[in-house]
Amino acid sequence: MSEKFLIGDRMSGGYGQGPNILHGCTLAVDKGEIAVIVGPNGAGKSTAMKAVFGMLNVREGAVRLGGEDITALTPQNRVGKGMAFVPQTNNIFTSMTVEENLEMGAFLRDDDISETMEQVYDLFPILRDKRRQAAGELSGGQRQQVAVGRALMTQPTVLMLDEPTAGVSPIVMDELFDRIIEVARTGISILMVEQNARQALGIADTGYVLVQGRNAHTGTGKALLEDPEVRRTFLGGT
Ligand SMILES: Nc1ncnc2c1ncn2[C@@H]1O[C@H](COP(=O)(O)OP(=O)(O)OP(=O)(O)O)[C@@H](O)[C@H]1O
Ligand SMILES: [Mg+2]
Repeated sequence: MSEKFLIGDRMSGGYGQGPNILHGCTLAVDKGEIAVIVGPNGAGKSTAMKAVFGMLNVREGAVRLGGEDITALTPQNRVGKGMAFVPQTNNIFTSMTVEENLEMGAFLRDDDISETMEQVYDLFPILRDKRRQAAGELSGGQRQQVAVGRALMTQPTVLMLDEPTAGVSPIVMDELFDRIIEVARTGISILMVEQNARQALGIADTGYVLVQGRNAHTGTGKALLEDPEVRRTFLGGT
């Protein structure tokens, strides 16, 4: 079986000189697939995302994209390879307008970005209406749309999202998930951390349950939702 398009393969590592937070953690996603990472607070989900994006010293293991070992590349160089990352916090420039945020997303591009911007506005029409407004004046769900839109401005092949639905209402969450599915259908790989485990596993091709920096369970979203052990220990029974 051939390897998936993006893989963080048996990654171990921690912050600075500190102890390992990740212990042989593996995450992978194929083109057009949605992979979802769930797990308790402090499990290392964000740390694993940072490791895949090059923001963490990976002491063991490797990260490969399209078969190429990118473990040694800086985050900026990974952006150049087609990766985009929306961090869990501070993911937009609040004092800039929505449009300026999108332009910032494209800072590595020297071609015409207007078509991509139209695609983002088609995906998130509210952003077109509010494009001249400071992003800090938007609602939580709208800000998350700005953050995702900004990431899409690089025309990535891989979109990494750390809790894109944090702090939004269930209706807005459903809508964001629909948009994320739409993005995946265009062939982009989605690697996403989610607190709303049930709903997120519901749209996941592959799900990863992380516990204490380790892979505790891996399977299709459907299989994990049906796994009695996952349900009991992680999805709150029933
Ligand atoms: N910048 C940092 N420096 C040192 N330790 C950190 C840093 N960021 C996180 N950690 C530690 O790494 C561990 C995992 O944290 P991480 O943020 O990856 O968890 P998480 O699964 O994303 O949690 P949450 O669901 O709360 O977002 C925690 O013990 C945390 O204290
Ligand atoms: Mg986190």
